[in-house]
Amino acid sequence: MFSLRPVRDEDLPLILEWRNSPSVRAKMFTTHVITPEEHDAHFARIQDDPTRRYLLCLDEQGLPVGVVTFTDIDQATGSCEWGFYLGGTTGRGTGTKMLYGAVEYAFGELGMRTIGAAVLGTNEASIRIHLRLGFQLEDAELKRARLPIASTPVHHFSLTEQDWTSTWRARVGELVRRQDEGGARG
Ligand SMILES: CC(C)(COP(=O)(O)OP(=O)(O)OC[C@H]1O[C@@H](n2cnc3c(N)ncnc32)[C@H](O)[C@@H]1OP(=O)(O)O)[C@@H](O)C(=O)NCCC(=O)NCCS
Repeated sequence: MFSLRPVRDEDLPLILEWRNSPSVRAKMFTTHVITPEEHDAHFARIQDDPTRRYLLCLDEQGLPVGVVTFTDIDQATGSCEWGFYLGGTTGRGTGTKMLYGAVEYAFGELGMRTIGAAVLGTNEASIRIHLRLGFQLEDAELKRARLPIASTPVHHFSLTEQDWTSTWRARVGELVRRQDEGGARG
């Protein structure tokens, strides 16, 4: 099983390298190359912010494989938004494994009842992975981002704890187990 733990100062250079890689930047709403100063200041700001949680995902050997961010954490409504990216080259299915743990973390440790996500319409891998995890498309119509990429359609997804525990946890858990056992996929 993969594990997740809060990002520490010593993780920042590696995370910055991942975040600045062209393949990750292309899928983000903020696409400029982030400077180390900007990156450090950002992490210093969010350190004690109860509405944000940044996690590093480690594989079975304890090696870092990716980052999951929870933002807009609202304990009153039980809702948050998430984002994520993998670092370097990882095997197929790594994203699913990381995000299975991240969903469990959100509904367990963070006590959330809904996870929301905004995904660029061009990000096929992320759309597929959200659907595979049980996320539902929130808006029938494509919304237009008001962020830097003004003309790019964005998909809004959400997953409720109820849907996760009643249906998707077992389904995705089985998928991850089969992957671990030999690469079969469902
Ligand atoms: C999104 C991300 C975490 C997915 O990781 P992954 O290891 O490829 O995930 P998995 O292999 O578990 O599954 C991803 C699904 O997308 C598909 N996929 C992977 N790369 C793809 C690509 N470049 N184009 C189209 N589909 C792709 C996989 O085939 C799989 O779908 P399937 O099982 O139906 O075949 C990873 O690609 C990533 O870090 N991307 C950059 C950052 C990002 O997009 N973050 C999300 C922002 S909302």
